[in-house]
Amino acid sequence: MTATRIAMIGAGMIGRRHMQVLLGDPAYAVAAIADPTPAAEAFAKEKNIPWFADYQRMLDEAKPQGAIVATPNQHHVTAGLACIARRIPVLVEKPIADSVRAAVELVEAGKRADVPILVGHHRRHNPIMRAAAETIRGGGVGRVTAVVAMWLSHKPDDYYKVDWRRQPGGGTVLINGIHDIDCLRMMCGEIDGVQAFAANGVRGFAVEDAAAAAIRFASGALGTLAISDAVSTPWSWEWGSQENPFYPHEGRDSYMVTGTKGSLGVPSLEHWWHEPGQHWGDALTRRRVPVKPADAYIEQMANFAQVIAGAAKPVVSGEDGARTLAATMAITESAATGRPVAIDEFMRRG
Ligand SMILES: NC(=O)c1ccc[n+]([C@@H]2O[C@H](COP(=O)([O-])OP(=O)(O)OC[C@H]3O[C@@H](n4cnc5c(N)ncnc54)[C@H](O)[C@@H]3O)[C@@H](O)[C@H]2O)c1
Repeated sequence: MTATRIAMIGAGMIGRRHMQVLLGDPAYAVAAIADPTPAAEAFAKEKNIPWFADYQRMLDEAKPQGAIVATPNQHHVTAGLACIARRIPVLVEKPIADSVRAAVELVEAGKRADVPILVGHHRRHNPIMRAAAETIRGGGVGRVTAVVAMWLSHKPDDYYKVDWRRQPGGGTVLINGIHDIDCLRMMCGEIDGVQAFAANGVRGFAVEDAAAAAIRFASGALGTLAISDAVSTPWSWEWGSQENPFYPHEGRDSYMVTGTKGSLGVPSLEHWWHEPGQHWGDALTRRRVPVKPADAYIEQMANFAQVIAGAAKPVVSGEDGARTLAATMAITESAATGRPVAIDEFMRRG
């Protein structure tokens, strides 16, 4: 079996995580790394991987079969377009772009050139999220009616020493909340409107350190999402799912999806319901939806390799990434204007 040769554009925090997957499986090879920093150059040297300061040169010389774009948000579309121009399938980290207009531009370019784009919403590859979506979409909670979602965590001061993270587009809504929006879309279907508030009172940076959104789904279900990266809590996907061993495991739910026949906590996958004929004061029956854990980043890379081989479609397409981006940016847009934002209209105007 010949290894699938995948190049890295951007070898920072998440770029290293992808390379851990690539270097840990002989089915893959890191074709080259493009990242101008001395740290990236040293990493490439240590691992004996060709290194380039300039990613365009790298794409032309290393000729990878696929490329991963793990640069700052503001650079995803430029690098993605460079891959598409060379007909190289691309895994673009989330968010697909830093504006809806730029996301649509990238998606259209991919379609015109018939080059697939996979967007790095890795949680969609996590068996926990797959089981949650199957349970809900299979009618396990009846008609989804009200949804509560949270991403509440604490980032250390040095996280914000990186300049781009303090600039618009680098804040917690677009970095973290976007994953939760994507999970909500996966479980509960399309989001058609958002009304939100945001605040930056803790750090005082240009980017928000908290946001709260009311969400309307196309199905008619309603939801709320609370986001902050400046609070000490166990209520985030990471602390509940064990997806990333860096975080302690507290097993609390970050999503509560409730419906006419029952409810589901995620990531615990505790499924609750009343038996027919029971009253609201009766104890609920509960079970835990069975799931076999797997590493979401490994699963994501397996999908990417299949996409490169032409054997599968991206689990998260460019269109999906753009729609998730629009629903996420609608939070900042609504917070800035004080008005509700309709997602279809927002997609059209970019
Ligand atoms: N899916 C996930 O779980 C996940 C987790 C963290 C970050 N992300 C996303 O990944 C992206 C990167 O985040 P990070 O935390 O790794 O950032 P980071 O700052 O740690 O790394 C970014 C890297 O890109 C490099 N870079 C910048 N401009 C470049 C260019 N023109 N060419 C090549 N390299 C360039 C920088 O030198 C840096 O090493 C962001 O878009 C973020 O939203 C995704």
